[in-house]
Amino acid sequence: MCGIVGYIGTRDAVEIILSGLHRLEYRGYDSAGIAVVTSNGLDCVKAPGKLSGLEEALRRHPLHANLGIGHTRWATHGAPSETNAHPHLDAPMEIAVVHNGIIENYHELRAQLQADGVEFRSQTDTEVIPHLVRRYYEGNLFAAVRRALSKLEGAYAIGVVCSAEPNLLVAARQGSPLIIGVGQDEMFIASDVPAILKYTRRVAYLENGQVCALHRDGFWVEDIDGVEQRLPIETVDLDETAAEKENFPHFMLKEIYQQPEVIRNTLRGRAREGSHEVRLDDMHLAAGDLLNCSKIVMVSCGTSWHASLAGKYIIESLARVPVEVDLASEFRYRNPILRPDTIVMAVTQSGETADTLEAIRIAKKSGARVVSIVNVVGSSIARESHGVLYTQAGPEIGVASTKAYTSQVTALSLFAIYLANLRETATADTLGGVIEHLRAIPEKLQWCLDHQDTVRKVSGDPRYCHARSFLYLGRSYNLPSALEGALKLKEISYIHAEGYGAGEMKHGPIALVTGAMPVVCIAVRSAVYDKMLSNIQEIRAREGLVLAIATEGDEAIRRYCDDVIYVPECYEPLSPIVVAIPVQLLAYYIAVNRHCDVDQPRNLAKSVTVE
Ligand code: M6R
Repeated sequence: MCGIVGYIGTRDAVEIILSGLHRLEYRGYDSAGIAVVTSNGLDCVKAPGKLSGLEEALRRHPLHANLGIGHTRWATHGAPSETNAHPHLDAPMEIAVVHNGIIENYHELRAQLQADGVEFRSQTDTEVIPHLVRRYYEGNLFAAVRRALSKLEGAYAIGVVCSAEPNLLVAARQGSPLIIGVGQDEMFIASDVPAILKYTRRVAYLENGQVCALHRDGFWVEDIDGVEQRLPIETVDLDETAAEKENFPHFMLKEIYQQPEVIRNTLRGRAREGSHEVRLDDMHLAAGDLLNCSKIVMVSCGTSWHASLAGKYIIESLARVPVEVDLASEFRYRNPILRPDTIVMAVTQSGETADTLEAIRIAKKSGARVVSIVNVVGSSIARESHGVLYTQAGPEIGVASTKAYTSQVTALSLFAIYLANLRETATADTLGGVIEHLRAIPEKLQWCLDHQDTVRKVSGDPRYCHARSFLYLGRSYNLPSALEGALKLKEISYIHAEGYGAGEMKHGPIALVTGAMPVVCIAVRSAVYDKMLSNIQEIRAREGLVLAIATEGDEAIRRYCDDVIYVPECYEPLSPIVVAIPVQLLAYYIAVNRHCDVDQPRNLAKSVTVE
């Protein structure tokens, strides 16, 4: 949560910082601010709301400098307001700090500083940092930041500038991501790579516990004890337009449309035509670890948790290994039973989700092997796992996860085939068949994108788009689809929605069914199709409004439903990937019809890097 950018060089720092913040706005957008250092000292402009508010404020109060830091906020401590917006300053207003993370011991630090006479302006945890840096400042900002950091507990990525040192930008990281961009006579810091891609492709990933001094012509890194650290500079191969909407009205729609290509990319080089084996060269996990594993425990949050559930069904069915799927936020606070032959698998788009990161740290401490399904290359979870399977979805900017989900389910299917081959739990014919089914998925996704008339029609129908609440029902492989459908709808349209296993309906949720309650029933052809039909009839008998997602050609189902959205025939274990498209489009068009801010829904942020 929160995005930070910093610049030191010869160009207009404000323009560069604003451009970076736009690319980071997905991380938080409740207020924003910039501080710059010029020969006249430190100047700072902040505004509540989205970046447009800051841009407006900058038109009234322009800043010009070659050194500065900027921030876009997702509030944790203190309401979204101009006062609580970053940067935060020390009392004489000479030191400015932007921060992403949470300072867990800020109460004690604040009390100590207040006892010494420091007056606080905001309610944030962050404000203790500039006051601490000031306390230790003796003409050397880098040293003062290092000393201040030694007092902090919690997670942070920070950028610091000081009016007395106009040729220095200091950055540090503990727990929250921070990258350094290396340009010609200019240096950058940012929460992620796309923020600076317009200016440089040469990046270094700051590690936990490192503090960095950036000058126009280079950088210097030490650990918190002052020991010099070497950071390799890598050249990243990311498409700059990946962080642009191109001709789409929203990132979410662009990302929905990218899915056929994304799935091809996830499969590329891994699942060859005519083979029953998959290659997962980048996973770096010994065959022995996989062969001997007694249990897989998946840890994840939100949509990635739904993808994990879909993965559980496929892995258990093909590789016959028991799979537990845990919410990372629960896993970390119970006492999980892990053994050296347990494989813990984090599933995450960002690779930075705080609970998932902590879960794998706990797993590693207990001796388990950790293999992760990650989208963002070089992210914390990717770097801290023993093995990684990248989903190759490209940057996902829309807060509502779409292409990350389908690519995760695809990657988990590849993993299931890999494991089944190793453990010889399915025949070569079966596994070769699954690969063929996987390779056919992109075409099926394209079919769904090309046949979206019903989704659009239904989304504009007041019975659906003005409904107060939705139920999503699915069974077996498509229970995760129901959960994901409900999450998509609630997060971007603000309509309350529940996802349920259809078999559970009679155990409670059926009490909610009335003619005013749309029930989305995922009833594709499958081993549980007849069971789903019975559930649909039970809803109809109570006058529920049934919207079915069914297999193309299934005309019979129309008899029991108010509306039907078709998807192409699909091998059942992989059908969640196909069903995801109408489910995402339904949420998207309903949200658009309700004039909701699809890419930046209220209260949410893309990367949940705080607990
Ligand atoms: O980056 P991660 O996959 O670890 O993120 C997990 C969740 O925060 C994320 O999936 C969230 O639920 C999305 N907003 C769902 O659309």
